[in-house]
Amino acid sequence: MKLCMIGTGYVGLVSGACFSDLGNDVICVDKDIDKINKLKKGIIPIYEPGLEELVKRNYKSNRLSFTSNISEAITKSNIVFICVGTPTKKNNNSADLSQVLSVAKIISKNIKSQKIIVNKSTVPVTTGDKVEKIISKKVNKKIFSVASNPEFLREGEAINDFNYPDRIVIGTSNKRANKILKSLYSPLISKGSKYINTSRRGAELIKYASNAFLATKISFINELANLCEKTNTNIEDISIAMGLDKRIGGRFLRAGPAYGGSCFPKDTRAIVDTANQFKTNLSIIKSVIKSNENRSKLLLNRISAILKNRIKNKKICFLGVTFKANTDDMRESSSTKMIPYFSKKGAKITYYDPTGYKNEFKNFKNVYYASNIKEACNGADLIIIHTEWNDFKSLNFEKLNNKKNFSVYDMRNILQNEKIKKNNIKYFGIGR
Ligand code: UGA
Repeated sequence: MKLCMIGTGYVGLVSGACFSDLGNDVICVDKDIDKINKLKKGIIPIYEPGLEELVKRNYKSNRLSFTSNISEAITKSNIVFICVGTPTKKNNNSADLSQVLSVAKIISKNIKSQKIIVNKSTVPVTTGDKVEKIISKKVNKKIFSVASNPEFLREGEAINDFNYPDRIVIGTSNKRANKILKSLYSPLISKGSKYINTSRRGAELIKYASNAFLATKISFINELANLCEKTNTNIEDISIAMGLDKRIGGRFLRAGPAYGGSCFPKDTRAIVDTANQFKTNLSIIKSVIKSNENRSKLLLNRISAILKNRIKNKKICFLGVTFKANTDDMRESSSTKMIPYFSKKGAKITYYDPTGYKNEFKNFKNVYYASNIKEACNGADLIIIHTEWNDFKSLNFEKLNNKKNFSVYDMRNILQNEKIKKNNIKYFGIGR
């Protein structure tokens, strides 16, 4: 099939490369010419394991191409995917739809033959209606349809998530569109993925409901971890035992810092905002947002307490600063709250991350990037394992730090505490 992906950010680039790998002709479009030129040379703008190889292979075999000529890409394609960003608006919590709606306008000017427009961007329920309205101003409804196909890709695991999805959700009441989209996804359906055809609005809501529910699970376990710390119980045991109940499920029950990234914080805010517009109170999701904000404050206090509230000139080392492992993404990472806070309190901070230096900290006093783990740890009063990179799972801290007495705060519970605890090393985990 002939597809184009409008927007080569995370969703568009990963999905485009994966669709081409399934044998489709895919054109990835972006208005950023520099990005397009780099992609043509095999330079990938994001860190995603396996993506570079996938892009290069399919580009070489001419199934994947890159352009900034959006009109030509739409004309050449039967299915047009909208994959642009929907960030939180600056002045309120709603999703900024300006990019989606301006793409809809451009599409409306370029439809001359049958096309299926598929929205993959995360959009509030009823956005598909708006897109359809914009296009139908210029184009006869008989030659186009607008469907919703939310993505459930996790950063760092996106290629695997694309190829082995738990479910594929297609929101359309148009029989032809449903048939074509089902056949597009048939290689994944035949490997066992469930295909769900629902209304367009239903599909839009499924995406937000899923992210909000996962955020709820995380906040739930994070709050329980607080109780574990007070009662000397282990949150890991609780998560495992709870998760074995199939009605609950074991995934997304790992306690840690406040959840972050480009999706959960943004999408929980947006669904509450949408519900407000429809005069519906999503009190549970509101509490989750609050709970996550409180968690950030709670961990700042916990770090201060470990340092006995004497922060000035204390050397703090952060191992990992991204919002989770296997990504270079810093968006809403809890480290972006912690490092500035302790820098302002007079601490000396070094950080190491496998994805390198971060601009986010460049304006803060006494914050240094270390190019390796030893350099980051040496001399530290407190080593914080902030992100669960494999690189940090079996470190010998005594060898890495020449300081006699120091603490390790393992915010992801990746270390076996009994192995770390030594006379001179104080170990702190989450909910343990
Ligand atoms: C999330 C969803 O998992 C994807 O299904 C969805 O497609 C994506 O958002 C999106 O809407 O585009 P992602 O933001 O890449 O994916 O990251 P997650 O792996 O879900 O992690 C989000 C946050 O939750 C991270 O801060 C992570 O550390 C935290 N988390 C996750 C926990 O604290 N505990 C867990 O058990 C799992």
